[in-house]
Amino acid sequence: MERTYLMVKPDGVQRGLVGQIISRFEQRGYKIVGLKMMQISRETAEKHYGEHAGKPFFNDLVNFITSGPVVAMVVEGKDVVSTAREMMGATNPLKAAPGTIRATYGVDVGRNIIHGSDSLESANREIAIFFRPEELVDYERAIDTWIY
Ligand code: TYD
Ligand code: MG
Repeated sequence: MERTYLMVKPDGVQRGLVGQIISRFEQRGYKIVGLKMMQISRETAEKHYGEHAGKPFFNDLVNFITSGPVVAMVVEGKDVVSTAREMMGATNPLKAAPGTIRATYGVDVGRNIIHGSDSLESANREIAIFFRPEELVDYERAIDTWIY
């Protein structure tokens, strides 16, 4: 089953949205297999967002993502990489489809509440940055027979 890396950004934590955001993925039927609150170091932030190094927003982005705690998670389920991106909505919350996480909670591109891996390759890379293998839990849920 596919896995993705999701992260409630510092704005989502400060605004008390962690529970509501996690709930959306649980309610959809996705399974949380890794979860922790953490303060990201500058080095880790620059690695995670390496594809954006040199872009005009890079420095602000690294400052923002290291400005307070985040909630990091690995979520598992059918087509979860692309479906989580759909559930998040467009990068700019003002352009995100109504009902998506970014449209529901945000109005600013720099403070868009949540990160989600954009491909299976990114997911594997990002999961490895933020979680050690032993921090990911393999377990069965009886409810999965009603989801799949
Ligand atoms: P990006 O990977 O393009 O977006 P997404 O988070 O949807 O995968 O960009 C990473 C983050 O950088 C984005 O969530 C918010 C920030 N950002 C800006 O602040 N300004 C911008 O113009 C862009 C494209 C991104
Ligand atoms: Mg991205």
